[in-house]
Amino acid sequence: MNFSSFLLIVLLIGVPDFYNWNRVKLRYCDGASFTGDAIFDNGTTTLHFKGQKIWEAIIHDLLPKGLGKARKALLSGCSAGGLATFHHCDNFARHLPTNASVKCLSDAGFFLDGRDVSFNHTIRYFVKSLVTLQGIEKNLNRNCTSTLFFPDLCFFPQYMLRYISTPYFILNSAYDVFQFHHILVPPSADTHGLWNKCKVDPAACTPLQIAILQGYRLEMLATLRPFGIYSGRGGLFINSCFAHCQSESQDTWFQDDSPRINNKTIAEAVGDWYFSRKISKEIDCPYPCDTTCHNLIPYPRGQ
Ligand SMILES: *[C@@H]1O[C@H](CO)[C@@H](O)[C@H](O)[C@H]1NC(C)=O
Ligand SMILES: *[C@@H]1O[C@H](CO)[C@@H](O)[C@H](O)[C@H]1NC(C)=O
Ligand SMILES: *[C@@H]1O[C@H](CO)[C@@H](O)[C@H](O)[C@H]1NC(C)=O
Ligand SMILES: *[C@@H]1O[C@H](CO)[C@@H](O)[C@H](O)[C@H]1NC(C)=O
Ligand SMILES: *[C@@H]1O[C@H](CO)[C@@H](O)[C@H](O)[C@H]1NC(C)=O
Repeated sequence: MNFSSFLLIVLLIGVPDFYNWNRVKLRYCDGASFTGDAIFDNGTTTLHFKGQKIWEAIIHDLLPKGLGKARKALLSGCSAGGLATFHHCDNFARHLPTNASVKCLSDAGFFLDGRDVSFNHTIRYFVKSLVTLQGIEKNLNRNCTSTLFFPDLCFFPQYMLRYISTPYFILNSAYDVFQFHHILVPPSADTHGLWNKCKVDPAACTPLQIAILQGYRLEMLATLRPFGIYSGRGGLFINSCFAHCQSESQDTWFQDDSPRINNKTIAEAVGDWYFSRKISKEIDCPYPCDTTCHNLIPYPRGQ
């Protein structure tokens, strides 16, 4: 399991609402969504984790190049990049003019602090060890870490979301393939490979496996409920496709056959939210009701 393969921050996405925006991609390789700051040294190996400093350096490089005068900006990213938007959204907004419209979008970054199918907290222990290894705790949202008994949990979006003041859009599949394969059914929880077929083809899942996946969807929806109800400036698009990352490819973002909820594409839902045209909080019906899904398994690498 690792968060290292993805990321991107995109200060603007595709057509048509965003067609003439400047777009900047921040390449990612620090392994902790630009939050680490530590030196690991066990006598034989020294590792430098500098994600937080890399984030700051990139933003300071971009400010004089035009970012500092932006009138509209959208910080977005997918997977570990989506997670990075939660951790850096308010900081990003603080760098921009106070009268600029600054918003943030997470695509497939809402990693749940969920239990796996053997009832183990596999992802929680992974995150705790990551936070320790990379010295992340000091860079997490202080209003969150000062409130939680286990401050390292503030690495999970579900605990720190309420402390973010910048308007937010959460795009995620309720059956996010990365979460399915690494949080709900990590290899350690399925040593006999009973889930192997279901993991690559939802049609091959047993009724019990589908029921477990429906439970995961309900857990995600319950976790997002306060945000959905109380966030006046927030947006949601939680569809029921087997996918991981849906905003960075034209296929899933804005095409005639792109995934839709209530006949709205992701691009339309995000545009309605960004430009405050209408309330944009879309939640899909459960699998397999949605016929617009592309069901991208395995999810594309390198995003
Ligand atoms: C130090 O850490 C590295 C990287 O995890 C590992 O390969 C190596 O075996 C460790 N050395 C000791 C002495 O524990
Ligand atoms: C924001 O303020 C700057 C400087 O006061 C001004 O030039 C700019 O037009 C303003 N932008 C918007 C979107 O109001
Ligand atoms: C914490 O909350 C206070 C009051 O709401 C706010 O002024 C401050 O900016 C917040 N700090 C962080 C790190 O978000
Ligand atoms: C739960 O996780 C622990 C630690 O990772 C592991 O030792 C144990 O075997 C796991 N239990 C099951 C039932 O997978
Ligand atoms: C769905 O939206 C498209 C335009 O994006 C429109 O042509 C079509 O009529 C709509 N379908 C329904 C059932 O509303």
